[in-house]
Amino acid sequence: LKQEALLELSSVQSQQELSDLRIKYLGKKGPLTEILRGMGALSADERPIIGQVANDVRAAIENVIEEKQAAYQKEETEKRLRAEMIDVTLPGRPSQQGVVHPLSKVIQEIEDIFTGMGYTVAEGPEIEQDYYNFEALNLPKDHPARDMQDSFYITEEILMRTQTSPVQVRTMEKRKGEVPIKIICPGKVFRRDDDDATHSHMFTQIEGLVIDRNVRMSDLKGTLLQFVQEMYGKQTRIRLRPSFFPFTEPSVEVDVSCAMCGGEGCRTCKQTGWLEILGAGMVHPRVLEMGGYDPKEYTGFAFGMGVERIAMLKYGIDDIRHFYTNDLRFLKQFLHL
Ligand code: PHE
Repeated sequence: LKQEALLELSSVQSQQELSDLRIKYLGKKGPLTEILRGMGALSADERPIIGQVANDVRAAIENVIEEKQAAYQKEETEKRLRAEMIDVTLPGRPSQQGVVHPLSKVIQEIEDIFTGMGYTVAEGPEIEQDYYNFEALNLPKDHPARDMQDSFYITEEILMRTQTSPVQVRTMEKRKGEVPIKIICPGKVFRRDDDDATHSHMFTQIEGLVIDRNVRMSDLKGTLLQFVQEMYGKQTRIRLRPSFFPFTEPSVEVDVSCAMCGGEGCRTCKQTGWLEILGAGMVHPRVLEMGGYDPKEYTGFAFGMGVERIAMLKYGIDDIRHFYTNDLRFLKQFLHL
């Protein structure tokens, strides 16, 4: 039996055959099981001898089967390893890398500069009530200055905000007369403008507001000078020109020295050496009052800038529409900035 089994085992070709032979020789219906089952009929002297022989045969067959099984397993593992092999020397597939949009980048930069001066960032709704966008900013219904900002009205009382200044009013309301207020408010604003290289019906503003005791015009000027020097470089100068906004008095328009020509005069600054970037002023007493701050005790300043314009001047971008048309060739230029 042993020889027969070993002979058959020596010529197995597959794992299936091996497992068939295991059943044939060692299984419940196999010859060995039969022999062991028949042991009861043997005499007490024969039993240990036959048992010994049967066990030896069983062990011998088991040994061979196990060896073969191990060999099959090894082969299979190697096959799998070979199939799953990764060639680490192959060149990688390039993945598309996104970039932070230049507008987001500039907003972040402006926020960093002002939070560095102790400001916090506040936000407000893009769909705004007439009261916050105009009335509480000292622009009553029939005020001619409303024409300065052609608006998208949704109903008579609700519109797309034309400026981020309503966040001033909302903040004053929320703070209920407490000082200091020191915020900047970035966000989208909307105006009924025909789009061209320098106009867009939607653009981004950042409004700033400071209210406290003894806030002066010189604080405004110092703050803005600090800002433009961090934004455009230490050599940058500013110039304030008298202007008008209904919610500030006095009001100024703020120019920066042209970074392109250093004030010599070039195309960017139309040969003047200066570029207008901001509107600003001392918060109008009526606005303070409507916001719940006694103008005899508190003063404040506010400023507002168009982020696209700041970004265009910083990076030499010649058309505001580039920001919104999602041309990858434009966006990819900002990969390394
Ligand atoms: N909100 C003004 C505008 O959109 C800018 C501004 C803000 C001016 C704050 C003064 C103070 O034109």
